[in-house]
Amino acid sequence: MANIALVGATGLVGRTVTKILEERNFPINNLYLFASSKSKGKVIEFKGHENEVEELTEASLLEKELDIAFFTAGAEVSKKYVPLLREKGVVVIDNSSAFRMDEDVPLVVPEVNPEDIFRHKGIIANPNCSTIQSVVPLKVLSDHYGLKRVVYATYQAVSGSGMLGISDLEHNTSIKYPHPITNNILPHIDVFFADGYTKEEWKMIEETKKILHDPKLKVTATTVRVPIKNCHSVAINVELKHDYSLDEVRELFRNSKGIILMDDVKENIYPMPIVADGKDEVFVGRIRRDDTVPFGLNLFVVADNIRKGAATNAVQIAEILIKGCV
Ligand SMILES: NC(=O)c1ccc[n+]([C@@H]2O[C@H](COP(=O)([O-])OP(=O)(O)OC[C@H]3O[C@@H](n4cnc5c(N)ncnc54)[C@H](OP(=O)(O)O)[C@@H]3O)[C@@H](O)[C@H]2O)c1
Repeated sequence: MANIALVGATGLVGRTVTKILEERNFPINNLYLFASSKSKGKVIEFKGHENEVEELTEASLLEKELDIAFFTAGAEVSKKYVPLLREKGVVVIDNSSAFRMDEDVPLVVPEVNPEDIFRHKGIIANPNCSTIQSVVPLKVLSDHYGLKRVVYATYQAVSGSGMLGISDLEHNTSIKYPHPITNNILPHIDVFFADGYTKEEWKMIEETKKILHDPKLKVTATTVRVPIKNCHSVAINVELKHDYSLDEVRELFRNSKGIILMDDVKENIYPMPIVADGKDEVFVGRIRRDDTVPFGLNLFVVADNIRKGAATNAVQIAEILIKGCV
Protein backbone atom coordinates (compact mmCIF):
# COMPACT_ATOMS: atom_id res chain seq x y z
CA MET A 1 0.00 0.00 0.00
CA ALA A 2 1.43 3.34 -1.03
CA ASN A 3 1.15 6.91 0.21
CA ILE A 4 0.31 9.04 -2.80
CA ALA A 5 0.30 12.80 -3.46
CA LEU A 6 -1.62 14.29 -6.36
CA VAL A 7 -0.57 17.85 -7.23
CA GLY A 8 -3.11 19.60 -9.48
CA ALA A 9 -5.93 17.50 -8.05
CA THR A 10 -8.69 19.95 -9.09
CA GLY A 11 -7.71 20.10 -12.78
CA LEU A 12 -9.02 18.04 -15.69
CA VAL A 13 -6.13 15.58 -15.55
CA GLY A 14 -5.90 15.55 -11.74
CA ARG A 15 -9.59 14.73 -11.26
CA THR A 16 -9.26 11.93 -13.80
CA VAL A 17 -6.19 10.53 -12.01
CA THR A 18 -8.31 10.21 -8.84
CA LYS A 19 -11.08 8.50 -10.82
CA ILE A 20 -8.65 6.06 -12.44
CA LEU A 21 -6.85 5.23 -9.17
CA GLU A 22 -10.27 4.28 -7.81
CA GLU A 23 -11.43 2.38 -10.93
CA ARG A 24 -8.25 0.31 -11.04
CA ASN A 25 -8.24 -0.21 -7.28
CA PHE A 26 -4.70 1.11 -6.96
CA PRO A 27 -3.26 0.01 -3.59
CA ILE A 28 -3.37 3.29 -1.65
CA ASN A 29 -2.78 3.88 2.02
CA ASN A 30 -3.16 7.69 2.05
CA LEU A 31 -4.07 9.99 -0.85
CA TYR A 32 -3.05 13.63 -0.37
CA LEU A 33 -4.57 16.17 -2.75
CA PHE A 34 -2.93 19.52 -3.59
CA ALA A 35 -3.87 22.49 -5.76
CA SER A 36 -3.46 26.28 -5.68
CA SER A 37 -4.58 28.47 -2.79
CA LYS A 38 -7.91 29.12 -4.52
CA SER A 39 -8.88 25.44 -4.16
CA LYS A 40 -7.90 25.05 -0.52
CA GLY A 41 -10.65 23.18 1.33
CA LYS A 42 -12.44 21.91 -1.81
CA VAL A 43 -13.61 18.34 -1.40
CA ILE A 44 -12.92 15.51 -3.84
CA GLU A 45 -14.46 12.08 -3.33
CA PHE A 46 -12.22 9.06 -3.36
CA LYS A 47 -13.51 5.55 -2.58
CA GLY A 48 -16.51 6.94 -0.73
CA HIS A 49 -14.44 9.30 1.42
CA GLU A 50 -14.38 13.07 1.15
CA ASN A 51 -10.77 14.19 0.72
CA GLU A 52 -9.97 17.82 1.30
CA VAL A 53 -7.67 19.65 -1.11
CA GLU A 54 -4.67 21.32 0.52
CA GLU A 55 -2.88 24.39 -0.73
CA LEU A 56 0.44 23.39 -2.31
CA THR A 57 3.35 24.81 -0.35
CA GLU A 58 6.80 23.44 0.38
CA ALA A 59 5.73 22.83 3.97
CA SER A 60 2.42 21.10 3.19
CA LEU A 61 4.04 18.84 0.59
CA LEU A 62 7.30 17.98 2.33
CA GLU A 63 5.71 17.13 5.69
CA LYS A 64 3.96 14.10 4.15
CA GLU A 65 5.49 10.63 4.12
CA LEU A 66 5.12 9.79 0.43
CA ASP A 67 6.01 6.92 -1.88
CA ILE A 68 4.74 8.31 -5.19
CA ALA A 69 3.62 11.78 -6.30
CA PHE A 70 1.64 12.54 -9.47
CA PHE A 71 2.17 16.07 -10.79
CA THR A 72 -0.58 17.50 -13.04
CA ALA A 73 -0.27 21.23 -12.39
CA GLY A 74 1.87 22.46 -15.29
CA ALA A 75 5.59 22.78 -15.92
CA GLU A 76 6.29 25.74 -13.61
CA VAL A 77 4.85 23.96 -10.56
CA SER A 78 6.76 20.78 -11.46
CA LYS A 79 10.06 22.65 -11.87
CA LYS A 80 9.67 24.16 -8.42
CA TYR A 81 8.48 21.18 -6.36
CA VAL A 82 9.56 17.97 -8.09
CA PRO A 83 13.30 18.33 -7.27
CA LEU A 84 12.41 18.74 -3.57
CA LEU A 85 10.52 15.46 -3.55
CA ARG A 86 13.23 13.71 -5.52
CA GLU A 87 15.71 14.69 -2.79
CA LYS A 88 13.40 13.08 -0.23
CA GLY A 89 13.38 9.80 -2.19
CA VAL A 90 9.80 10.14 -3.45
CA VAL A 91 9.24 8.91 -7.02
CA VAL A 92 7.45 11.54 -9.11
CA ILE A 93 5.34 10.76 -12.17
CA ASP A 94 5.20 14.10 -13.93
CA ASN A 95 2.55 14.99 -16.52
CA SER A 96 4.14 18.29 -17.46
CA SER A 97 6.78 18.92 -20.09
CA ALA A 98 9.33 20.12 -17.48
CA PHE A 99 11.66 17.11 -17.47
CA ARG A 100 10.56 15.01 -20.46
CA MET A 101 13.70 15.51 -22.52
CA ASP A 102 16.18 15.26 -19.60
CA GLU A 103 18.56 12.40 -20.22
CA ASP A 104 18.12 10.80 -16.80
CA VAL A 105 14.31 10.99 -16.94
CA PRO A 106 12.52 8.07 -18.60
CA LEU A 107 9.65 9.10 -20.87
CA VAL A 108 7.24 6.20 -20.74
CA VAL A 109 4.22 4.75 -22.48
CA PRO A 110 3.63 1.37 -20.83
CA GLU A 111 2.62 -0.39 -24.09
CA VAL A 112 5.86 0.83 -25.72
CA ASN A 113 8.83 1.12 -23.32
CA PRO A 114 7.75 -0.11 -19.85
CA GLU A 115 11.26 -1.32 -19.02
CA ASP A 116 12.47 2.31 -19.01
CA ILE A 117 10.50 2.89 -15.80
CA PHE A 118 13.16 1.08 -13.78
CA ARG A 119 15.92 3.40 -15.03
CA HIS A 120 14.37 6.29 -13.16
CA LYS A 121 16.36 8.50 -10.80
CA GLY A 122 13.32 9.84 -8.97
CA ILE A 123 11.35 11.26 -11.91
CA ILE A 124 9.38 9.47 -14.61
CA ALA A 125 7.80 11.68 -17.26
CA ASN A 126 4.43 11.14 -18.88
CA PRO A 127 4.66 12.13 -22.54
CA ASN A 128 2.62 14.72 -24.42
CA CYS A 129 -0.95 13.52 -25.04
CA SER A 130 -0.91 13.33 -28.84
CA THR A 131 2.48 11.62 -28.73
CA ILE A 132 1.24 8.90 -26.37
CA GLN A 133 -1.57 7.79 -28.66
CA SER A 134 0.68 7.94 -31.74
CA VAL A 135 3.57 5.84 -30.46
CA VAL A 136 1.30 2.96 -29.38
CA PRO A 137 0.56 1.85 -32.99
CA LEU A 138 3.96 3.08 -34.23
CA LYS A 139 5.72 0.70 -31.83
CA VAL A 140 3.82 -2.24 -33.35
CA LEU A 141 4.90 -1.16 -36.84
CA SER A 142 8.44 -0.49 -35.68
CA ASP A 143 8.81 -4.00 -34.19
CA HIS A 144 7.61 -5.71 -37.37
CA TYR A 145 8.74 -3.53 -40.25
CA GLY A 146 11.04 -0.81 -38.93
CA LEU A 147 10.26 2.91 -39.23
CA LYS A 148 11.92 5.29 -41.66
CA ARG A 149 9.83 8.46 -41.58
CA VAL A 150 6.70 9.66 -39.77
CA VAL A 151 4.42 12.58 -40.71
CA TYR A 152 1.83 13.64 -38.14
CA ALA A 153 -1.21 15.87 -38.61
CA THR A 154 -3.28 16.30 -35.46
CA TYR A 155 -6.86 17.31 -34.68
CA GLN A 156 -6.67 18.14 -30.98
CA ALA A 157 -9.56 18.72 -28.59
CA VAL A 158 -9.86 21.78 -26.37
CA SER A 159 -9.66 19.65 -23.20
CA GLY A 160 -5.95 19.39 -24.07
CA SER A 161 -5.69 23.00 -22.86
CA GLY A 162 -7.32 22.22 -19.51
CA MET A 163 -10.42 23.88 -18.06
CA LEU A 164 -9.76 27.18 -19.89
CA GLY A 165 -9.81 25.52 -23.31
CA ILE A 166 -13.21 23.97 -22.63
CA SER A 167 -14.48 27.30 -21.37
CA ASP A 168 -13.39 29.09 -24.60
CA LEU A 169 -15.27 26.50 -26.69
CA GLU A 170 -18.39 26.53 -24.54
CA HIS A 171 -18.63 30.31 -24.14
CA ASN A 172 -17.25 31.37 -27.54
CA THR A 173 -14.48 33.42 -25.87
CA SER A 174 -10.76 33.80 -26.71
CA ILE A 175 -9.19 33.72 -23.27
CA LYS A 176 -6.99 30.64 -23.64
CA TYR A 177 -6.59 30.90 -27.42
CA PRO A 178 -5.57 33.92 -29.56
CA HIS A 179 -8.66 33.45 -31.80
CA PRO A 180 -12.12 31.98 -31.30
CA ILE A 181 -12.12 28.17 -31.37
CA THR A 182 -15.89 27.90 -31.84
CA ASN A 183 -16.58 27.24 -35.56
CA ASN A 184 -12.87 27.53 -36.22
CA ILE A 185 -9.62 25.56 -36.21
CA LEU A 186 -6.26 26.86 -35.06
CA PRO A 187 -3.02 25.58 -36.65
CA HIS A 188 -1.32 26.72 -33.49
CA ILE A 189 -0.78 24.72 -30.27
CA ASP A 190 1.63 26.13 -27.68
CA VAL A 191 4.20 28.78 -28.65
CA PHE A 192 5.89 29.33 -32.01
CA PHE A 193 9.63 28.81 -32.39
CA ALA A 194 11.92 30.80 -34.72
CA ASP A 195 11.78 28.03 -37.36
CA GLY A 196 7.98 28.34 -37.61
CA TYR A 197 7.18 25.12 -35.79
CA THR A 198 5.12 25.18 -32.59
CA LYS A 199 6.35 23.74 -29.31
CA GLU A 200 3.61 21.08 -29.52
CA GLU A 201 5.02 19.98 -32.89
CA TRP A 202 8.53 19.93 -31.45
CA LYS A 203 7.30 17.84 -28.52
CA MET A 204 5.71 15.26 -30.83
CA ILE A 205 8.87 15.05 -32.94
CA GLU A 206 11.40 14.76 -30.11
CA GLU A 207 9.29 12.68 -27.73
CA THR A 208 8.48 10.12 -30.44
CA LYS A 209 12.21 9.56 -31.04
CA LYS A 210 12.96 9.30 -27.31
CA ILE A 211 10.14 6.86 -26.48
CA LEU A 212 10.93 4.63 -29.47
CA HIS A 213 14.69 4.80 -28.73
CA ASP A 214 15.24 5.86 -32.33
CA PRO A 215 17.11 9.20 -32.40
CA LYS A 216 17.62 9.00 -36.18
CA LEU A 217 13.94 8.49 -37.01
CA LYS A 218 12.66 11.23 -39.33
CA VAL A 219 9.55 12.81 -37.85
CA THR A 220 7.61 15.92 -38.76
CA ALA A 221 4.30 17.28 -37.47
CA THR A 222 1.52 19.82 -37.91
CA THR A 223 -0.59 20.19 -34.78
CA VAL A 224 -4.05 21.73 -34.96
CA ARG A 225 -6.68 22.62 -32.35
CA VAL A 226 -10.24 21.73 -33.39
CA PRO A 227 -13.55 22.73 -31.81
CA ILE A 228 -14.39 19.50 -30.05
CA LYS A 229 -14.41 18.99 -26.32
CA ASN A 230 -12.47 15.80 -25.80
CA CYS A 231 -10.30 13.22 -27.62
CA HIS A 232 -7.38 13.91 -29.92
CA SER A 233 -7.14 12.47 -33.43
CA VAL A 234 -3.89 12.02 -35.33
CA ALA A 235 -3.49 11.25 -39.04
CA ILE A 236 -0.21 9.36 -39.28
CA ASN A 237 1.65 8.86 -42.54
CA VAL A 238 4.51 6.44 -42.05
CA GLU A 239 7.23 5.10 -44.32
CA LEU A 240 8.31 1.63 -43.18
CA LYS A 241 11.68 -0.02 -43.82
CA HIS A 242 10.18 -3.29 -45.07
CA ASP A 243 7.13 -4.30 -47.02
CA TYR A 244 3.91 -5.32 -45.32
CA SER A 245 0.45 -6.56 -46.14
CA LEU A 246 -2.60 -4.61 -45.02
CA ASP A 247 -4.18 -7.79 -43.64
CA GLU A 248 -1.09 -8.51 -41.57
CA VAL A 249 -0.98 -4.93 -40.22
CA ARG A 250 -4.65 -5.18 -39.22
CA GLU A 251 -4.00 -8.51 -37.52
CA LEU A 252 -1.05 -7.06 -35.59
CA PHE A 253 -3.16 -4.14 -34.33
CA ARG A 254 -6.07 -6.47 -33.52
CA ASN A 255 -3.76 -8.49 -31.26
CA SER A 256 -1.93 -5.57 -29.61
CA LYS A 257 -2.57 -4.67 -26.00
CA GLY A 258 -4.05 -1.20 -25.62
CA ILE A 259 -5.22 -0.92 -29.25
CA ILE A 260 -8.74 -1.32 -30.60
CA LEU A 261 -8.89 -1.81 -34.35
CA MET A 262 -11.82 -0.02 -36.02
CA ASP A 263 -11.23 -0.45 -39.70
CA ASP A 264 -14.15 -1.51 -41.84
CA VAL A 265 -14.91 1.35 -44.18
CA LYS A 266 -17.64 -0.59 -46.03
CA GLU A 267 -19.60 -0.39 -42.79
CA ASN A 268 -18.40 3.20 -42.04
CA ILE A 269 -16.35 1.90 -39.14
CA TYR A 270 -13.36 4.03 -38.21
CA PRO A 271 -12.09 5.74 -35.03
CA MET A 272 -13.85 8.91 -33.91
CA PRO A 273 -13.71 11.06 -30.76
CA ILE A 274 -17.22 10.00 -29.72
CA VAL A 275 -16.03 6.39 -29.71
CA ALA A 276 -12.80 6.97 -27.77
CA ASP A 277 -14.32 9.33 -25.17
CA GLY A 278 -14.03 7.83 -21.68
CA LYS A 279 -11.93 4.86 -22.88
CA ASP A 280 -8.37 3.88 -22.08
CA GLU A 281 -7.44 2.29 -25.40
CA VAL A 282 -6.04 3.81 -28.58
CA PHE A 283 -8.40 3.40 -31.55
CA VAL A 284 -6.79 2.74 -34.95
CA GLY A 285 -8.37 2.68 -38.41
CA ARG A 286 -8.42 4.07 -41.99
CA ILE A 287 -5.46 1.80 -42.66
CA ARG A 288 -4.34 2.10 -46.27
CA ARG A 289 -1.31 2.10 -48.52
CA ASP A 290 0.53 5.26 -49.44
CA ASP A 291 1.98 4.35 -52.82
CA THR A 292 3.83 7.66 -53.22
CA VAL A 293 6.80 6.23 -51.26
CA PRO A 294 8.18 2.70 -50.81
CA PHE A 295 6.31 0.84 -48.03
CA GLY A 296 4.15 3.86 -47.15
CA LEU A 297 1.14 3.50 -44.86
CA ASN A 298 -1.62 5.82 -43.61
CA LEU A 299 -3.46 5.46 -40.29
CA PHE A 300 -6.00 7.45 -38.30
CA VAL A 301 -5.59 7.21 -34.53
CA VAL A 302 -7.96 8.53 -31.85
CA ALA A 303 -7.72 8.45 -28.05
CA ASP A 304 -9.09 10.15 -24.96
CA ASN A 305 -6.36 12.73 -24.29
CA ILE A 306 -7.30 13.14 -20.63
CA ARG A 307 -7.36 9.40 -19.94
CA LYS A 308 -4.79 7.53 -22.12
CA GLY A 309 -3.13 10.81 -23.10
CA ALA A 310 -2.49 11.74 -19.46
CA ALA A 311 -4.16 10.19 -16.39
CA THR A 312 -4.40 6.52 -17.38
CA ASN A 313 -0.87 6.47 -18.74
CA ALA A 314 0.43 7.95 -15.45
CA VAL A 315 -1.45 5.43 -13.31
CA GLN A 316 -0.26 2.54 -15.53
CA ILE A 317 3.32 3.70 -14.90
CA ALA A 318 2.68 3.73 -11.13
CA GLU A 319 1.21 0.23 -11.29
CA ILE A 320 4.33 -1.14 -12.95
CA LEU A 321 6.51 0.75 -10.49
CA ILE A 322 4.70 -0.79 -7.52
CA LYS A 323 4.67 -4.28 -9.05
CA GLY A 324 8.43 -4.00 -9.55
CA CYS A 325 8.47 -5.66 -12.97
CA VAL A 326 7.02 -5.23 -16.45
N1 LIG B 1 -5.30 18.18 -20.71
C1 LIG B 1 -4.56 17.28 -21.35
O1 LIG B 1 -4.97 16.66 -22.36
C2 LIG B 1 -3.19 16.97 -20.88
C3 LIG B 1 -2.56 15.87 -21.41
C4 LIG B 1 -1.27 15.57 -21.01
C5 LIG B 1 -0.65 16.36 -20.08
N2 LIG B 1 -1.29 17.44 -19.56
C6 LIG B 1 -0.60 18.24 -18.56
O2 LIG B 1 -1.20 18.06 -17.29
C7 LIG B 1 -1.10 19.27 -16.54
C8 LIG B 1 -2.48 19.72 -16.09
O3 LIG B 1 -3.33 19.88 -17.19
P1 LIG B 1 -4.91 20.06 -17.01
O4 LIG B 1 -5.46 19.92 -18.37
O5 LIG B 1 -5.43 19.18 -15.94
O6 LIG B 1 -5.00 21.60 -16.53
P2 LIG B 1 -6.12 22.33 -15.65
O7 LIG B 1 -7.45 21.71 -15.83
O8 LIG B 1 -5.98 23.76 -15.96
O9 LIG B 1 -5.65 22.08 -14.13
C9 LIG B 1 -4.50 22.63 -13.58
C10 LIG B 1 -4.31 22.14 -12.15
O10 LIG B 1 -3.08 22.66 -11.64
C11 LIG B 1 -3.34 23.36 -10.44
N3 LIG B 1 -2.42 24.48 -10.28
C12 LIG B 1 -2.21 25.49 -11.12
N4 LIG B 1 -1.30 26.36 -10.60
C13 LIG B 1 -0.94 25.86 -9.41
C14 LIG B 1 -0.05 26.28 -8.38
N5 LIG B 1 0.68 27.38 -8.51
N6 LIG B 1 0.07 25.51 -7.29
C15 LIG B 1 -0.66 24.39 -7.15
N7 LIG B 1 -1.53 23.93 -8.08
C16 LIG B 1 -1.66 24.66 -9.19
C17 LIG B 1 -4.78 23.84 -10.55
O11 LIG B 1 -5.29 24.14 -9.28
P3 LIG B 1 -6.49 25.22 -9.10
O12 LIG B 1 -7.74 24.52 -9.52
O13 LIG B 1 -6.46 25.49 -7.64
O14 LIG B 1 -6.14 26.40 -9.96
C18 LIG B 1 -5.40 22.59 -11.19
O15 LIG B 1 -5.60 21.60 -10.21
C19 LIG B 1 -0.36 20.24 -17.46
O16 LIG B 1 1.03 20.14 -17.19
C20 LIG B 1 -0.65 19.71 -18.84
O17 LIG B 1 0.34 20.09 -19.76
C21 LIG B 1 -2.55 17.76 -19.92
